[in-house]
Amino acid sequence: MPITNSESGTRVDEIADGLYRISTPVGPAVIPGGFTFNQYLIVDDAPLLYHTGLRKMFPLVREAVASVIPIERLCYIAFSHVEADECGALNQWLAAAPRSVPLCGRIAASVSIEDLADRMPREIADGESLPLGTHRVQWFDTPHLPHAWECGHLMEQQTRTLLCGDLFSQNGDKPAPLTESDILGPSEAFRARMDYFSHTRNADPMFERLASCAPTTLACMHGSAWRGDGAALLRELALKFAK
Ligand SMILES: [Fe+2]
Ligand SMILES: [Fe+2]
Repeated sequence: MPITNSESGTRVDEIADGLYRISTPVGPAVIPGGFTFNQYLIVDDAPLLYHTGLRKMFPLVREAVASVIPIERLCYIAFSHVEADECGALNQWLAAAPRSVPLCGRIAASVSIEDLADRMPREIADGESLPLGTHRVQWFDTPHLPHAWECGHLMEQQTRTLLCGDLFSQNGDKPAPLTESDILGPSEAFRARMDYFSHTRNADPMFERLASCAPTTLACMHGSAWRGDGAALLRELALKFAK
């Protein structure tokens, strides 16, 4: 079992070539139904961590990353939008990995990160691609999808993995690291209890743009990562969202 901390149950699983899911469960006593906080590590010439994890989870996530690569090698600390689970530990990572910089969209950079972060961010423009070595990530601005003005999503082109942040969030504290079973039903059940979408009227073209990347893996921040026809699943979610 790839557990890196027996007390918290933090685990690391390679879900695509060179792409690792780090997951820390939180029990039902803390969050009803249980929950997980996931980060994704892309190992390459310029390693990238997507989501820092909560500030208070930093020791657990650091331990997990260190089980894969020396943390000083990290080059990019990236995230979708400005929230504690997305970037709460950003400054701890910048201190631990001296050559790393924050990587985020232009709104996040100018509104928050240029001030909040201890090092200036590397802004990534809408549609811009950034090579990491054999992997290459492309950024898509998705304002308010599912929430936050500065929200965006990162597509890793080599493994065709969409780092989809809070989209398809599922609760539960023991999800499979990677599943081919349905995640849309569980994520919609979770959303029925706690609707984290902003319901932006511009959702449709943004869903369609993400779907046109044809991801084969969806790297969810909460719950299992998923393998399958990502375009179809994104379009199904768009239909539910439109109702
Ligand atoms: Fe969020
Ligand atoms: Fe989240």
